[in-house]
Amino acid sequence: MSKYIYGIDFGTTNSAISIIDSSSNEIIKTYSESSLIFFPQLKNSRSPLIHFVGEQAIEKYIENKMKGRFMKSIKRVLPRSGFKETRVYNKKLKAEDLVCIILKHLKEKADAFIGEDVRKAVLGRPVVFDENPEKDQLAQDRLEKAAKLAGFEEIAFQMEPIAAAFTYERIISKDEMVLVADMGGGTSDFTLMKLSPSKLKKTNRKEDIIGQGGIYIGGDNFDSSIMWNKGTYHFGRGLTYKDFDTTVEVPRSFYLNICSWEKMNFFDSIKLQNALDKFYYLTGEAPRFKNLVRLVRNNLGYSIFQKIEKAKIGLSENDSVNFKFAHSGIDFDEAISIEEFSTEIVNDDVNKIRLYLLDFLQRSKVSPLEIDTVFMTGGTSMVKPIRNFMIELFGENTVKSRDNFNSVANGLAYSHVLFF
Ligand SMILES: Nc1ncnc2c1ncn2[C@@H]1O[C@H](COP(=O)(O)OP(=O)(O)OP(=O)(O)O)[C@@H](O)[C@H]1O
Ligand SMILES: [Mg+2]
Repeated sequence: MSKYIYGIDFGTTNSAISIIDSSSNEIIKTYSESSLIFFPQLKNSRSPLIHFVGEQAIEKYIENKMKGRFMKSIKRVLPRSGFKETRVYNKKLKAEDLVCIILKHLKEKADAFIGEDVRKAVLGRPVVFDENPEKDQLAQDRLEKAAKLAGFEEIAFQMEPIAAAFTYERIISKDEMVLVADMGGGTSDFTLMKLSPSKLKKTNRKEDIIGQGGIYIGGDNFDSSIMWNKGTYHFGRGLTYKDFDTTVEVPRSFYLNICSWEKMNFFDSIKLQNALDKFYYLTGEAPRFKNLVRLVRNNLGYSIFQKIEKAKIGLSENDSVNFKFAHSGIDFDEAISIEEFSTEIVNDDVNKIRLYLLDFLQRSKVSPLEIDTVFMTGGTSMVKPIRNFMIELFGENTVKSRDNFNSVANGLAYSHVLFF
């Protein structure tokens, strides 16, 4: 029996695997990787389908001149009951097959490091995959199937923010009431928990968890809003054409689709390209609409979202950034100030998260004053309007953050004592 167990945080944007030695309870290594898959175009219909994961997916996508299928934010597909499978060239892939590709990649890296085929893992899951319990269960079932396909035999699930709480618990020196806020790419999850350095080895922590909840809004939504507010104009949003006597706007659905990775992952390009050709003609070959045709035809979805994410991350440090995109004849440069970002672009989503948190605290019957520490983790915890409202609610000295990208995977690995 191997003494090693893995903690696996399959994230919307980033995934991580932590290897723990269960005899010493020490984490010996953590690997992380972007949750991206790239399938290069096939030479012919009988060629085997190959794929690349993470940073290599980006490299190969560029090397292949953006020809192929690029998938991002696959975690968002897990609760979608309407999604059965997607055809990628000559293969049909279900949600669990897509997730398996990423889990297997992480497992192989970790197995190679310790030289063993480890079969035991604690997998993270958000507090809420979906408000609908059936869809929520579907998401977890698919994740479990993916883990089995990847070669795991003993699988346990732990809520992602509870895992982060366990990581934080290892560095405290006194008992604390802690609010963990795990702000990721897909979800913002909260857990209220009593933590104590004396409880590190306790195997039942149910009574210490005061409340947990989550909302399906994260950094991906901010990227979509940047695309909607600052990008879609350049792809023809608002353009009109004449249908006999009436003036009609080009379909908004084009623009909703290019703002969302859930849609973009599964673009049916032939149908879409025909529709694009039709509206390009109807708009009198408007240059802005031509940009949309170029975006889809050249498969530039990932390239443009890289620029968007860069602009958003820039706003965590600077008061203004430029969202520039120049590719295949598309060329624009939009300035975004932190003011515009906070009050016009992400304000609705940030406000939903804030109201959700206030309601969560009320339901948990805990006032902000009773909270000793707010432990923020996840990439989106660095977004200024998010940090600002947290500091406003809890005070500057209460809000702490540390290791935004590995806390969950490490905590999942520490959680093994609860399950195995
Ligand atoms: N410095 C930064 N400022 C603002 N946002 C950032 C920063 N760094 C990363 N992000 C954003 O954080 C998100 C990724 O965070 P994280 O890796 O915690 O998410 P995840 O675990 O993949 O998602 P989830 O937990 O929701 O499944 C992305 O939306 C990314 O753009
Ligand atoms: Mg996460």
